[in-house]
Amino acid sequence: AQTRIAVIVGSLRKDSFNHKLALALAHLAPSDFTFETLRIDDLPLYNQDDDGNQAAQVKRLKSEVAAAQGVLFVTPEYNRSIPGVLKNAIDHASRPYGQSVWAGKPTGVLGISVGAIGTALAQQHLRNILAYLDAPTMGGPEVFLQAKEGLFDDKGHIGNEGTQKFLQGWMDKYVAWVKAHSAA
Ligand code: FNR
Repeated sequence: AQTRIAVIVGSLRKDSFNHKLALALAHLAPSDFTFETLRIDDLPLYNQDDDGNQAAQVKRLKSEVAAAQGVLFVTPEYNRSIPGVLKNAIDHASRPYGQSVWAGKPTGVLGISVGAIGTALAQQHLRNILAYLDAPTMGGPEVFLQAKEGLFDDKGHIGNEGTQKFLQGWMDKYVAWVKAHSAA
């Protein structure tokens, strides 16, 4: 059986480095793992008044996360935290109270930035949110990447050998993490 990983990218930008990283990571996984990037750009702004009547896009997001054995967050850092679009998606899928889809879902967190500290602070904020939501999050290795020329090759794979090895090690550990922590 296939193990399904729901990928959530914290950038809506067409040429997003984080989106490219998410695609490159999928190449490092074994063939029984499938990666699907979930849409978050069409979600309404979260409003608690709508908890009893969630929008179709919100229901879609929740069912996609629920159907996955693991979640992968690949996010930029905006002003030393996670982008609002990502927090909006997380908030939506955590509601209504008692019907969060995050609880117990094995997650991994990575990010790439143009800045030198490579999304470290955003990832720390995200880990705090996921801890509250009771989603078991792989602690390490941490992945703080800085966007540099040649990081991705012309096929969209990781183009730098050292980084490729490092991310392969990350993926191998994440695969084991998901297998160990997923209920399905
Ligand atoms: C940024 N950027 C940024 N970088 C960083 O390392 N730390 C930060 O706090 C911020 N803050 C920030 C705020 C806003 C509103 C924007 C638009 C950008 C720069 C960021 O790393 C860069 O734009 C990346 O290219 C964003 O990731 P994607 O879109 O390429 O995935």
